Amino acid sequence: MPPSRKEKPEAAPAPAAPTGLGFITNALSAPVSPAEAALRPLSFGDFTGQPKTVERLQVMVGAARRRGEPLNHVLLSGPPGLGKTTLAFILGQELGRNVRVTSGPVIEKAGDLAGLLTNLEEGDILFIDEIHRIPKTVEEYLYSAMEDFRLDIMIDQGPNARSVRLTLPRFTLVGATTRSGLLTAPLRSRFTLQTRLEYYDHATLQQIVRRSCGLLKVTIDEDGAGEIARRCRGTPRIANNLINFVRDYALERAGGAVTKPVASRALELLEIDAAGLDEMDKRMLRVIAENYRGGPVGMSTIAVAVAEEAETLEEVHEPFLIQEGYLQRTPQGRVITAKGYTAIGLRAATGGEQGALL
Ligand SMILES: Nc1ncnc2c1ncn2[C@@H]1O[C@H](COP(=O)(O)OP(=O)(O)O)[C@@H](O)[C@H]1O
Ligand SMILES: [Mg+2]
Repeated sequence: MPPSRKEKPEAAPAPAAPTGLGFITNALSAPVSPAEAALRPLSFGDFTGQPKTVERLQVMVGAARRRGEPLNHVLLSGPPGLGKTTLAFILGQELGRNVRVTSGPVIEKAGDLAGLLTNLEEGDILFIDEIHRIPKTVEEYLYSAMEDFRLDIMIDQGPNARSVRLTLPRFTLVGATTRSGLLTAPLRSRFTLQTRLEYYDHATLQQIVRRSCGLLKVTIDEDGAGEIARRCRGTPRIANNLINFVRDYALERAGGAVTKPVASRALELLEIDAAGLDEMDKRMLRVIAENYRGGPVGMSTIAVAVAEEAETLEEVHEPFLIQEGYLQRTPQGRVITAKGYTAIGLRAATGGEQGALL
């Protein structure tokens, strides 16, 4: 049977606001649009970057095929937009199996999980996105499902209540999470492979940009691709979103072809700076620098000050700011670095005092 994609139809995402404030957050939190899905690599051969994760998965897929057994359970973690969902589909494709897609918050009770699991065929992949958001009461049922492929659930209530044991097809659970730290140890330990996706380096992103532009029939030169690669904060999904805007900009303002100056002007219009920081990143840094003398300050305080959900800041903005050295995370809270001060046009004063204007 050919592998199929049983992804729930998703509502079209709201168009990304054409400003740095919100563009990146939208790009990373909106559901996958059909245009974006069309750019998804479909096989390992088509998937660029993440060499460690890809090799680990290839080894497991190869061994599962050789033994004629279902793939062992896999946990993919890492910031949004780096390719977790893409890899789950690639696993299905490479194994020739169905991929059923669901997500943690959708599975509200044990019955929901039972419904999903009993509908699988032997060897199918159940992809649970945002698996850290699965309710604790449901999570416990996953343990025996993953380990022994059985599910003991209670049916009926009151005096008629009884437990029934369901035997499940041997399936593969692929979990994805942006917050692996929030996963409980018992759940985590049931994954044979736990692998973390990292932000992509510049050369790899440049390749991804060229590939996407090829698929979209956008004319772009090396330097144009390099410019988008530099400003997409290490994230292929942002690169693809930026390409969409840059392509429109090139058409309307520059005769269609994307060169470095064209890409650069388009991204300035989105208020995405030369390092890929957007307005929200800078607001966060400014709050820490100006309102809290450089920190330490707690994330919930920052969230109130910039009027954004703490969860969004922690998932979307903070990992990149930390990775690139603009921000540090200490037990007392977030602290801005010298590089962070520079990014917002301030100079770190010595002695932890507030930065002075450059
Ligand atoms: N390694 C890659 N090579 C090319 N494109 C990629 C790669 N990883 C991700 N993408 C693109 O980025 C988009 C987002 O990836 P996705 O798998 O949805 O990320 P995640 O599930 O981690 O949030 C995909 O639609 C795909 O087009
Ligand atoms: Mg995803």
